[in-house]
Amino acid sequence: MATLKLRLAEGEKLLDSLLRRGVEVAHDCGGTLACGTCRVIVREGLESLGAPTEDERDILDKASSLEPGGRLACQAIGGDGELVVEIPQDQALRIAAPLRGTARPIVLSAAAARHFASQLAKRPGAAAVRLAVQAAGCSGYRYRVDHADAIGAQDVVFESNGIRIAVDPASLPHVQGTTLDVVQDGLSRRLRFDNPNAAQTCGCGESFGT
Ligand code: FES
Repeated sequence: MATLKLRLAEGEKLLDSLLRRGVEVAHDCGGTLACGTCRVIVREGLESLGAPTEDERDILDKASSLEPGGRLACQAIGGDGELVVEIPQDQALRIAAPLRGTARPIVLSAAAARHFASQLAKRPGAAAVRLAVQAAGCSGYRYRVDHADAIGAQDVVFESNGIRIAVDPASLPHVQGTTLDVVQDGLSRRLRFDNPNAAQTCGCGESFGT
């Protein structure tokens, strides 16, 4: 979670100000009020911003974000006054700069590739395996492995042992260079992540810190 203190120029959008300062806040719809990904919490100075429109409130409501100070950065227009803005944890995950073209590859062992091939076979139309992280777990981040119905414009796509793996730019710094294997664990089999970015790993092996 990141907190910033800033002052907007009269009529300036909060999103523009954040981006100008190098804070790469997600804004998937480009500020057209269609995604809600630019949500931030204004901890101080809320009264200096123009009031939210009904449409903005609707989107915040859908994102279950009608908490005090919740605003869409693309809709919050500055007045006169200092702001303290908190970037929520799910947003903070997206601040990391994309590493397109320089990322270390994701590697699948033969056993992991067979596992994913059988999983993808059950999902006609799936374009790839998606590897991502989310903020959770006892060590900071948790892996999410799922099928990808589509490859996003910002995704980085790797191929290993005939399987495509899509990684979104926010997850990439946390998982690049990871090798995935399938190991026997008692009576069950599970994925094992050999992640060079993990400074600490939870005993369950499914969450880690960097
Ligand atoms: Fe999509 Fe703000 S960028 S709603």
